[in-house]
Amino acid sequence: MIRPVGSDELHPLYVYDPIEHEKLSHEAENLPSVVISSQAAGNAVMLGGGYFSPLKGFMNVADAMGAAEKMILTDGSFFPVPVMCLLENADAIQGADRIALRDPNVEGNPVIAVMDVENIETVSDEQMETMTQKVYRTTDPEHPGVAAFNSQGRIAVSGPIQVLNFSYFITEFPDTFRTAVEIRNEIKERGWSKVVAFQTRNPMHLAHEELCHMAMERTGADGLVIHMLLGKLKPGDIPAPVRDAAIRKMVELYFPPNSVMVTGYGFDMLYAGPREAVLHAYFRQNMGATHFIVGRDHAGVGDYYGAFDAQTIFDEEVPPGALDIEIFKADHTAWSKKLNKVVMMREAPDHTKEDFILLSGTKVREMLGRGEAPPKEFSRPEVAKILIDYYQSLND
Ligand code: ADX
Repeated sequence: MIRPVGSDELHPLYVYDPIEHEKLSHEAENLPSVVISSQAAGNAVMLGGGYFSPLKGFMNVADAMGAAEKMILTDGSFFPVPVMCLLENADAIQGADRIALRDPNVEGNPVIAVMDVENIETVSDEQMETMTQKVYRTTDPEHPGVAAFNSQGRIAVSGPIQVLNFSYFITEFPDTFRTAVEIRNEIKERGWSKVVAFQTRNPMHLAHEELCHMAMERTGADGLVIHMLLGKLKPGDIPAPVRDAAIRKMVELYFPPNSVMVTGYGFDMLYAGPREAVLHAYFRQNMGATHFIVGRDHAGVGDYYGAFDAQTIFDEEVPPGALDIEIFKADHTAWSKKLNKVVMMREAPDHTKEDFILLSGTKVREMLGRGEAPPKEFSRPEVAKILIDYYQSLND
C-alpha cells in the first residue's frame, strides 16, 4: 500500500485507547481553555484522523511561514499550508503549559483537543499578509478564503495536540465522514491496490462522473474514493447533505457495484486553488489513494486562478519527491454533440466551442431553481431531481 507522507506509518492524533480517552476527557474539563476558530477546529479534526500525518499539532509562526513560503517546515519536512490555531485573546491560557481547545461549531463548546503549549506568539500584519499572499495568491478581502483566514485573531498558540472527537462531522454525517485511518483500512480490506481519489464540494454532474470513469480506466484503478468536503462553504454552495444524497444516487445507478467508496472529511473549504490542490493530494495519499484527480479550476473561486494552475503547481513548486501520489491531470470535460459522449476538450481538437454542451454554474442553478432539469447531456435526471427538490425547498 502507498506509504503515508513523510513516514512509514500514519500518525493520527485522535486518542483511540478508551481508558486514555476517558482520562484525558476528565483532565480537559479542569484545564485552562479557549474556544478556537472554525478553521483551527477543522485542523484538529484533520490532525485527529491522520490526514495531516505526520504533523504532531499546531504550527508555530516559523513553521507556518515556512509552509506558506516554501511548503517546507523548519525541520525540513514538507507541508503545503500553515496549520495554525489563531486566537483573538489568549488571556485565559497565559502561563499554562497544558490547555483545552474548545469547539466553536458544537453547542456548549465541548473540548475537541488538549494541547501541550510550546509557544504563544503574536503574528505581525506583515506575516499575515505574506502567508495570505503565498497561500491564496491574493490578499483581496473579497476572496472567501482570504476573508476567513484573516478574520481569525493574531495570537498563534502552538504545540502538539491529542484529539478527543471529530466535532459535528461524525454526528451530522455518520454514513459519510471517515478518518484517513478508516479509509486506509477499508482500502486494505477491499484489496484495492490502485485507488483514484476524487475531491468535491459540489454535486456531481455528468462531466464529473465521466471524469472519474476516465481516470479509473486510464490508471487501471481497482476503485474510486469520492471524498467530499463536509465543512463550511461560501454562501450559494450546495449544502453537504444534499450533495451527499445526489452523489450517492449517481454512484448507485451509474457505477459498477463495489467500485466506489462515498466518503467525506471535516474541513472548511479554503478556496486556495493551487495550494489547496497540493494539500488535497497530501491528505489523499495519507488515506491510501495512489492517484488524485485534479481537473479544471480545482478548489478555485471567481477568477483568482488560471484554469490549470492547480496542475502546474505540482511540477513548478512542489519539492521533487515530496509526494508519492500521482496526479491525474484532467482537461475540461464536456459533452460533445459530434461524438455523443463526454470527452476531454483537448482530445477533440477538431471541435469548436459550439460542438460542446457548456453551461455555467449560474445558469444551472437558475434552471434548477425554476424546477427545470438541465439537459440529460449535462445532468443525470435522478441527480437533477434531488437538486431541484433542494432549490424548490428554498422558495417555500
Ligand atoms: S472543488 O473546489 O472541490 O475542486 P468541484 O467539486 O467543482 O470543486 O470539482 C471537483 C473536481 O472536479 C476538481 O478536480 C475539478 O478540477 C474537477 N472538475 C470540475 N468540473 C470539471 C470539468 N468540467 N472539467 C474538468 N474537471 C472538472
